[in-house]
Amino acid sequence: MSSDEGVSPTIHTHFVGQRDDVIRADRVVTSVNGRDVLVLHHQGALHALDARCYHAGGPLQNGDIEEIAGRVCIVCPWHKYKISVCDGEGMYQAVDPSVKPLKPRWCSKGVKQRVHKVTEVRGRVYITLNTSPEHLESDQYQTPKYRDTLHKN
Ligand code: FES
Repeated sequence: MSSDEGVSPTIHTHFVGQRDDVIRADRVVTSVNGRDVLVLHHQGALHALDARCYHAGGPLQNGDIEEIAGRVCIVCPWHKYKISVCDGEGMYQAVDPSVKPLKPRWCSKGVKQRVHKVTEVRGRVYITLNTSPEHLESDQYQTPKYRDTLHKN
């Protein structure tokens, strides 16, 4: 860990790469303390979240990006679940049957995917793991049992 100003050196902070390199790669999967994290670039912003989808462990590095209800979401390649990359909320469409004509609207299931903090210091990109104690559904796929799914798809 570098001692760059602005980044608190902890065991949970990890140097990802030079900003230009990360942007050029568009998506980087890195391992921090045994946790696989996807760092992705979208329209000038960098985001970090658990690399395997909270639903069944799908490899999010292969997902498309869509804007849904004003939120940047990654679409899991396995079953097309949509996850906000800023806060990890699972997004779904709902219809109120009492309102005609029927009109689907986007709703949140709540936070399902663990997202992590991205920090940039003098062109260097770091992630700091979100170690909040509450269980999030994506946590269950951060075990050795699921590690290989990232590399098989
Ligand atoms: Fe099913 Fe991601 S694994 S939607």
